Amino acid sequence: MKGIILAGGAGSRMWPATKVVSKQLIPVGLQPLIYYPICTLMLAGLREILVITTPAQGPLFRAQLEDGSQWGVRFTYAEQPDPGGLGQAFTIAEDAGFLGDGEGACLVLGDNIFDAAEFGRSLSTYQEIDGGLIFAYHVGLERASQFGVVEFDQETGRVRSVVEKPERPTSPFMVPGLYFFDGDCLEHARRATPSARGEVEITSVMQPYIEQGRLRVVPISRSEYWLDTGTETSIEDAWSHVGAKRRITNLRIGVPEEVAWRSGWLTDTDLLAVADENDPDGQNPYANYLRLLVQDGQTYRR
Ligand code: G1P
Repeated sequence: MKGIILAGGAGSRMWPATKVVSKQLIPVGLQPLIYYPICTLMLAGLREILVITTPAQGPLFRAQLEDGSQWGVRFTYAEQPDPGGLGQAFTIAEDAGFLGDGEGACLVLGDNIFDAAEFGRSLSTYQEIDGGLIFAYHVGLERASQFGVVEFDQETGRVRSVVEKPERPTSPFMVPGLYFFDGDCLEHARRATPSARGEVEITSVMQPYIEQGRLRVVPISRSEYWLDTGTETSIEDAWSHVGAKRRITNLRIGVPEEVAWRSGWLTDTDLLAVADENDPDGQNPYANYLRLLVQDGQTYRR
């Protein structure tokens, strides 16, 4: 299975902050936003990752993320010329020579933050998935209308429907921007027709799986967090959440170096070298966090 991260879009709901620099590159804490969903793919054990950006922002993403070898992964880059919908990610991946028929893919949106340890640990079990898998996060009926909304059978975990931004949601569960699909996804994406707003919706890629009874949903526990970053208030919430967590626990989330180190893709020596490279005067808190991981060893490995 391969990882795809979609970081296109004009980010106009957050202008002027995102007018020149992509939303996925603006900081939440000391990390550019995209570090968080990259960690999600890395937690799923995916090391081949396609980063899809707008044409204008491609060079900035390349400068920020490089080829991925510093984190034990490999990035390939592709462009989405216009905001043509999330469902386009798969055909863009095909055109880039990244994804072929019969290959499974995990798509994550470049602005989705998960702070969910149990959930993170479970992700690596979905690589060999048969059908599709999405997640459900409780946000309540009122808020759900801002998102994709899922109705499902609580007993079997089978999805009954996913509706994009319904006026009157029939379920309090939204669908976070993380989707696992088996090797049929490319075919489904090719066949999907654009919606009324002219976009290839992710729901169109899911629909054949729903009709075949092959789309499952896993609810994310209420003790875990999915954070939206699409609006001014939600990104403020994201900042305060990651900040409070860091101050209270002295742990950071969204640190690709840490995920790589915990996964055995970087050694202690590698981690210290990355810390030093990114800390010219020895006072950078992010680099110090990496040094602490090595110093405290097993304590932090959990
Ligand atoms: C997209 C999806 C929506 C999903 C959301 C999660 O919406 O279309 O189904 O719930 O991401 O972040 P967007 O934020 O692009 O409007």
